[in-house]
Formats: sequence, structure tokens, C-alpha cells
Amino acid sequence: MDEPAIREQLAMLGASLFQRGYSVGTAGNISVRLPDGYLMTPTNSCLGRLDPARISKLGSDWSHVGGDKPSKEVFMHRAVLTARPDAGAVVHLHSTYATAIGCLAEPGETAPIPPLTPYFVMRVGRSLPVIRYYRPGDAAMESDIHEASRTAKAVLLANHGPVVSGKTLADAVAAAEELEESARLALLLRGTPARTLTPAQVDDLLETFG
Ligand code: 13P
Repeated sequence: MDEPAIREQLAMLGASLFQRGYSVGTAGNISVRLPDGYLMTPTNSCLGRLDPARISKLGSDWSHVGGDKPSKEVFMHRAVLTARPDAGAVVHLHSTYATAIGCLAEPGETAPIPPLTPYFVMRVGRSLPVIRYYRPGDAAMESDIHEASRTAKAVLLANHGPVVSGKTLADAVAAAEELEESARLALLLRGTPARTLTPAQVDDLLETFG
């Protein structure tokens, strides 16, 4: 896909997430890796109303080279995209249920959502490290997220929200949606004797689809 098509896709998927309540107000940001740099949603933009032409462009050195001023969370996205060379995109949301889990989980935990369903395991994987609270836009979060992202497709920022990567933008969005649904299920079933997938079932999924 060329850059104009990716810009269109980013605006379309941002609107889709917004319309379905995965993001409200100006919460959330998205980045996509390009051959010559990165696209990033502009700071204070609404994912529901992105103008493809105004999406920020960063060079390979992460400097701002075009479009509106980029998200304040550029360090968060850089942390993941440099830790995961296979990742083509990163989606950060404040989606309700995942954020709720991020308010309950202890920083340092690696599985705040149990493996209840196959698609959570297939899309998000075995671990979802919980990163301690940082103020939005704080550059200090970069090293913690970078370290955790070496072995995890997604991380959960305490009291803030999920940061989810994927091979493509469509993959990252699908994984962010799956994470949110799994967080919702986990809260719905909290305190019940719900059955989780066994370690052998998790291994089988990751060997087959991982
Ligand atoms: P930006 O508007 O700068 O992208 O920040 C929104 C956000 O989600 C902060 O975490």
C-alpha cells in the first residue's frame, strides 16, 4: 500500500474505532511505519475526524517533517516500533475495559487478562506487561515500554490504557479490539469460576497461529 492509501486507511480505521466507542474525545493515537519514516495521528486530534492530508509525518530519525504537530505520545510509539522490527503499526487507546484492568493490575504483572478465548491469545499473545504510571507524553516511559515490547505485542499502561502493535495497521487495530473485548470478558467473569484455556491450549494456538 502506498502512503496516500495508508493515510486514507488510517482515517477510515480511526473513524471506525471512534464510532464504536473505542476512543472518545481526543483520546488515543496511531502510528504506521513507512519505508521513509512514520505516519502519526496529530496531537489533540479526534480519531473520528482525521484528515488524511494533515496526518503527521515523521522522518526515519523521528523528526517532524510534515502535516500537523504529532501526538505527544511519540516516545510511546517509538518505544514499540524500535523494539519490534516486525511491527508495522501501533494503536494506543483509552478503551474503557482495558483501561479499567490497567487501574486494577499491579505494574510488573504480565498477564492481567487471563487467556479466556483463542482470539485473545492469537492476537495479543501470552503476555500483556503492565507498565507503571507515567504522565501522558512523558518521555521517561520510553525505556520501560521498549524493554517490555521486545517480548510482547501489547502492553498496558497503568491508569492510562493499552498500547498494541501489529504487522500492519489493520492487524494492530484488530488486536486492540480483541484486547478490549477480552478485558470486558475478564471483568464480566471476575470472581466467577470461569474456565480459562489451559497452558497446552495456549501453546497450541501460538504454535499454530503465532
Ligand atoms: P495526543 O492527542 O497528543 O495524541 O494524546 C492523546 C492521548 O491519548 C494521550 O495518551
